[in-house]
Amino acid sequence: MTSHDQLTQLASGVTIPSVGFGTFQIPPADTQAAVESALSMGYRHVDTAAAYNNEAGVGAALRASGLRRDDVFITTKLRNGEQGHDNALTAFDDSLERLGLDHVDLYLIHWPVPSKDLYVETWRALAEIKASGRARAIGVSNFMPEHLTRIADETGVLPDVNQIEVHPTLQQRDVVAACREAGIAVESYSPLGQGADLQSETVAELADGHGVTPGQVVLRWHIQHGFIVIPKSVNPDRISANLDLFRFELTESEMATLDGMDTDERIGGDPRVFDFSQIRD
Ligand SMILES: NC(=O)c1ccc[n+]([C@@H]2O[C@H](COP(=O)([O-])OP(=O)(O)OC[C@H]3O[C@@H](n4cnc5c(N)ncnc54)[C@H](OP(=O)(O)O)[C@@H]3O)[C@@H](O)[C@H]2O)c1
Repeated sequence: MTSHDQLTQLASGVTIPSVGFGTFQIPPADTQAAVESALSMGYRHVDTAAAYNNEAGVGAALRASGLRRDDVFITTKLRNGEQGHDNALTAFDDSLERLGLDHVDLYLIHWPVPSKDLYVETWRALAEIKASGRARAIGVSNFMPEHLTRIADETGVLPDVNQIEVHPTLQQRDVVAACREAGIAVESYSPLGQGADLQSETVAELADGHGVTPGQVVLRWHIQHGFIVIPKSVNPDRISANLDLFRFELTESEMATLDGMDTDERIGGDPRVFDFSQIRD
């Protein structure tokens, strides 16, 4: 199967494969091979970012794969230090050039960076990019309910997606509820808790019961909650297993057990204060 078999419909009508391939922390020199491997195993959705410095490898993998452009959903993100209306337009062009594409499927503001107070005008720039047809859908990442409310109130344009840190030990139910209420799809980043959530005895027991891996149990939990997931791996067996999520189902009580793992502890930054520019010297 390919990840095209399981799609999530976004508010603007665009469909996105519910399982994508994450590329954070894949070194630029290794990215083409990792993404080619993922595409050959059936992934049809790749998540990158200007800040990961590996957009070129993603574009090269797409071209080497022999797949058609329309077959693969590509997301990239704006660096924090490139916020502001005009900066965002220029940064978007730079991303397209590194990817070697004439459009992306989804363009995201990577973090709100409230201390700079530029995310509203940046969001207006993304709306213009979408209107120009060079991003089929636009969204945000790491936006808390107050940031979502502000862009909606001040621009009238809602994001298609909010990509946020979600995994069993950090469920951000308040942010998920705000997204649901506004019709914004939730995309879970670090869906495996960067591997840490897979060490849980509870997860191991559920995996044994279904004859699957701990990673598959946790990713299936996301899918059954209606989240889009973008697990990252450079290991071929795990890349393959992370896409193979549709041959078993967690029961309501198993879902409730995993829901009970929330400790509200983040791996990544706190969006209310995170202000790293993401620009290398
Ligand atoms: N918007 C944002 O601010 C933001 C922040 C962080 C991440 N992201 C996106 O979300 C993607 C995923 O998040 P992430 O990379 O932070 O973490 P993740 O996908 O939760 O976990 C990746 C880690 O888990 C390991 N792993 C993967 N599959 C496994 C499996 N089945 N069993 C055991 N270990 C497994 C990987 O090691 P191996 O590679 O050795 O398999 C890697 O160390 C990123 O790549 C990026 O695209 C976005």
